[in-house]
This record gives sequence, C-alpha cells and structure tokens, in this order.
Amino acid sequence: MKSVLPEPGLRAALLRRKPVADLVADADHGRLKRSLGLGQLTMLSIGATLGSGIFVVLGEAVPVAGPAVVLSFVLAGVTALFSALSYAELAGMIPLSGSSYSYAYATLGEIVAWICGWCLVLEYGVSVASVAVGWGQYLNELLHLAFGVAIPDALSQPPGEGGLVNVPAILVVVLAMVLLLSGAKESARANAIMVTVKIATLVMFCAIAFTAVQAKKFTPFLPLGLAGMSAGGAKLFFSYIGFDAASTAGEEARNPQRDLPRAILLSLAIVTVLYCLVAFAAVGALPWQQFGDQQAALSHVLTSVLDNKFWAGVLAVGAIVAISSVVLTVLYGQTRILYAMSRDGLVPKALSTVHPKTGVPRTNTLVVSGFVAVLAAFIPLGKLADATSIGTLFAFGLVNIAVLILRKRRPGDARSFRVPFSPVTPILGVLCCAYMMFSLDGATWVVFGAWMALGLVLYFAYGIRRSRLAVRS
Ligand code: ALA
Repeated sequence: MKSVLPEPGLRAALLRRKPVADLVADADHGRLKRSLGLGQLTMLSIGATLGSGIFVVLGEAVPVAGPAVVLSFVLAGVTALFSALSYAELAGMIPLSGSSYSYAYATLGEIVAWICGWCLVLEYGVSVASVAVGWGQYLNELLHLAFGVAIPDALSQPPGEGGLVNVPAILVVVLAMVLLLSGAKESARANAIMVTVKIATLVMFCAIAFTAVQAKKFTPFLPLGLAGMSAGGAKLFFSYIGFDAASTAGEEARNPQRDLPRAILLSLAIVTVLYCLVAFAAVGALPWQQFGDQQAALSHVLTSVLDNKFWAGVLAVGAIVAISSVVLTVLYGQTRILYAMSRDGLVPKALSTVHPKTGVPRTNTLVVSGFVAVLAAFIPLGKLADATSIGTLFAFGLVNIAVLILRKRRPGDARSFRVPFSPVTPILGVLCCAYMMFSLDGATWVVFGAWMALGLVLYFAYGIRRSRLAVRS
C-alpha cells in the first residue's frame, strides 16, 4: 500500500524549498507575455490600492479616531512602507508572478509558502469581493443623486443583509473579467485611464473641501485617545493593500529587476500623500462627529459643504471608476498568484495553462472571476475588510522575514534594490505588522483561524503530494 506520508517524510516535505535558481528560471521561461513598463506597473499598483479604502472605509475610521484619522493614515502608511521596502528588494531579486508566495517558497519552505499563498487569496480574491460590494454602494449613491432612485435591497444586498443577490457586485466583476481576458496590455491601458480619473476625483474633492476647512474642527485632535488613533490605523490599513500588486506582474514586466521595486515604492508614495490630504480635507470640512452611518463618506462631505449635489455626483462617478480599477487589478493579481502556485503543482494544473493568442491564463481567469462573483453576490461581507487586512499583514510579515533570511543565506546574490538599514527595517516591518494584527478584534481572528484551518486541510489533501518538488524528489 502507498505510504500516507509523502517521501522522504513529512517534515522534509513541509520544509522543502524551491531553489532561487529554479524560481528565476521559471521567470525566464514563463509563457506570459512581457508587455508592461514602469508607468503601467506603477498604475497597476495604484489601481489596486486606491479605492474603497479612501472612498468608503475612511467614513468608518473617523468615528473611531476623530480628527486624528490623518495620523491613522500615516501610521498605516509607515507599516506599509516597511513592508514595501522588503517587497521592493524581493521583487527585484525574484521577479516572478507569485509575489510573496514565491519569496516564501524560496526561503521558508513549502508549507509556509502555501500558507502565504492562502493568505494572498484573502488579500486578493476575498478583498476584491468586498471591494465589488463598495462599488455597488457608490452606484446607488449616484442613482440617488442623479435620479432620486436606488436599486432595491433585494437586488443590491446579499442574503443576511436584507437582500437576495448583489447584482451590481456581479456586474463589476464580469466587466473586469472581460477586460482581463482580452490581455494584460489591454487591461493595463484601461487601468491607466481609470487611475487618472480617480486621482483627478480626489484632487477635486480636496479642492472643494479645503474651502470649508476650519482649525476648530481639529480640536480636540485626539478625542478618543491614542488607542482610537491606532485602531483607526488598523482599519485604514485596508486602504494601503494593493501597493504590492506590481509584484504579481513579475513575468509580464519588460524590465522587472529595474521596474518592480520602483513601481512599488512610487505607488505607495503617491497614495500616501493623497490619503493624508483627503483625510485632512474631510475632517477639516465636516465635524468628525457627523461621520457615521452613511456609506459614501466623501460624497456626504461634499453635499454638506456645497448647497448643490452636482459635485457629489461627480465624486460618485469618480468613485465608481476608482473602485472598478481596484476590482480589475486585484482580480488580475489573484489570477497571477494562482498561476504561479499552479505551476508549482500546489493547485490544479489547469490554472497555469495560457491561451496562445492573448497570453492570458484563461481558465484561471474564468474560475477566479466566478468564485469572486459568487462571493460578492451572496455572502454578507461586512466583516471581510478586517479579515482581508489580517491575512495581508501576515503575508507582509513573511516578506520582511524572507528578506532577513535571504540576506543571511544568499548575501552575494544580485539585488537591484536593497532595503536600507537592514536588518533594522525588516524587523520593524515584522513588528508593525504584528502590532496591527493584534489591534484587530477577536471576531476577525476567529475568521482568520478558520481560514487557515481550511487552507491546511486543502494542502494536506492535495498540494503536499502534487507539488512539483514532491514529484521530482
Ligand atoms: N486598497 C484597496 C481599496 O482600498 C483594497 O479598495
């Protein structure tokens, strides 16, 4: 009878690592098309980052942090920065489409890589579903402002939240899927246009809201103390998720070693500046106590500042475009991560077959889009933003650890970007991620624990035996 454990034993199987040389060879001989330059990669990361966090979650963070929400953004941004530096180093060194999953495979072994990849499904696949729900909220806001109507709850909410099915969420996922199927270059072009629109929308918001900013709205600055500020930071960390999206395009970048680190850091700098300006303008224009139940927070600020609803309508259009580009790019990222995991044998092979004409992993794109559409349509996603953050923080923590390990094990390897002040910076990165994780509530930890348990069951039922490294040994 065949052994229950894979040879040469469970421990060795769990800890087997994919050699860096094999990873780089995979990148060199990949079948995806290399078509993306620095501009498109930066837009990819901004596209994935700037979305419902600033347009929706900001409204939930203000009641928790008060005017200090501006500092909550800085806190979350600093946490993201430490990890972004580590991402930049590894993306330049191991430019594969698997992002942190591939980095963990090279350093920490297969089981940790699998756990990391599984967390990335939270960061990408599950978050895109909750982002698609935010899209529906702004669509309703626009319909309300423009025509005084709204999509009935039955068709715009999932069961459990007063509805039957969330049709707008399905719609945006299907639109993104159609674009993705046409090719990476075509998707990147559409994304670049959407990113330009969303940046212009936020600049417009600031220009209007600044006219109503008053110093007195900032006092007291910390009405809910430092604890409120850091809880706000943990909530807002969601708004930074996605800066790492460029690292999922390692095999489609024209010059990955040079451009990936730059794209990651540039996109983070741009979104941080925008977030702080928007938060400052929002709480400076509208007293923080008046942020509450309304879902489309920034539109609410504009309708309170101006007498007419025109600009709030323009903002809602911008938000719809903004969130569409998050859906597009995050969906893209999820397909590429699964592509890398499938090539390694940890998920079924069909997910890494590439269409000869478009260069797109077609089956993969269809499966991922279908999964996300069903999730967004039928599952109440209220708690999901926090669950996404915890999974992402875990993956970011692993990337910082991977930098430390590779610096020790392979000090002489070429690095197109080096984290400054290592090991201090990556260690601070790990600590910040852990701190943020512990700022999230118990219910989020329960969701996270259940997610991890499901991931481990799948690994032991499938990946451990099908892994390319298992087949080879
Ligand atoms: N950072 C992304 C957003 O805010 C997930 O929509």
